[in-house]
Amino acid sequence: MINGETRVTGIFGDPVAHTLSPAMHNAAFTALGLNFVYLPFHVRREALAAAVAGIKALGLAGVNITVPHKEAVLPLLDEVAEEARLIGAVNTVVNRGGALVGYNTDATGFLRALQEAGFDPAGRPAVVIGAGGAARAVVVALARAGVGEITIFNRTLSRAAALAELVRAEGIAAAALSWADLTGAGKKVVAQAALVVQTTSLGMHPQEEDAPPVPPEALGPGQLVVDLIYSPPETRFLRLARAAGATTQNGMAMLLHQGAAAFELWTGREAPVGVMRAALENVLRSTFEVQG
Ligand SMILES: NC(=O)c1ccc[n+]([C@@H]2O[C@H](COP(=O)([O-])OP(=O)(O)OC[C@H]3O[C@@H](n4cnc5c(N)ncnc54)[C@H](OP(=O)(O)O)[C@@H]3O)[C@@H](O)[C@H]2O)c1
Repeated sequence: MINGETRVTGIFGDPVAHTLSPAMHNAAFTALGLNFVYLPFHVRREALAAAVAGIKALGLAGVNITVPHKEAVLPLLDEVAEEARLIGAVNTVVNRGGALVGYNTDATGFLRALQEAGFDPAGRPAVVIGAGGAARAVVVALARAGVGEITIFNRTLSRAAALAELVRAEGIAAAALSWADLTGAGKKVVAQAALVVQTTSLGMHPQEEDAPPVPPEALGPGQLVVDLIYSPPETRFLRLARAAGATTQNGMAMLLHQGAAAFELWTGREAPVGVMRAALENVLRSTFEVQG
């Protein structure tokens, strides 16, 4: 029950109406009997600074930060964890007695999702498709987990090159290849990868027939193929990968585990991952039923 002692958390984003996080976090608070609540806050770009000041003014326990504020929030915080600074994005803010500390739990969430799939990236070759914000969290996570090497394919080659540079600075071999290489010289690199991570928005609802131009013959048994998209639950890309014999994972696992890591930062309690997963599955199922 909400009362005078309820701790408030939430998410700042624009848009924010379709966020799945309130269902997952509120179910977790209820399951552990914690007097916390998680709310969506529609924060426009021009209101971000005031909203961040509001975390202190209103005594919120913390918030998640989503598109388009993950980068812009950094200079507004009192402290930013080293990994979040390296990624250049914050998705979780913790109010530590009036000091706002920024973290990036997308990277932790991605690694926990790999663990859930029984995959250890240490020493193994990986391919990342895309070089946007999500890809930055993925490559930093992989680099920190001691991945063997990373090849990044992106439509805008300069962004892939910048990301490869970031990985090399962490002491890991990395290369950037163009989008066209996916069907050419890069096909062999994809075929030899133990892990292939699709981080672009291609194939996301409602553009479900889009997919990156990875030839299905480059995918197969022995590979883990991850698509960070969770709506639809199986993108065309994942369907092709599964048909080719690869093990697949959609983006729900990363979403779940980044949420679990944020929950732990706010509450100091171990996240009830099973409860959070069930809440996410429930809300995703009902979204798809509504959409038909
Ligand atoms: N599961 C999770 O927890 C989680 C977390 C974060 C994000 N995501 C998902 O990850 C995806 C990307 O998010 P983001 O924040 O990284 O976005 P972003 O920063 O805008 O990056 C978008 C990426 O997609 C590429 N792209 C977009 N449209 C394309 C097209 N038509 N053809 C080829 N490439 C295209 C971009 O290439 P250019 O560089 O050439 O523009 C860039 O690499 C979204 O679907 C998001 O929902 C999932």
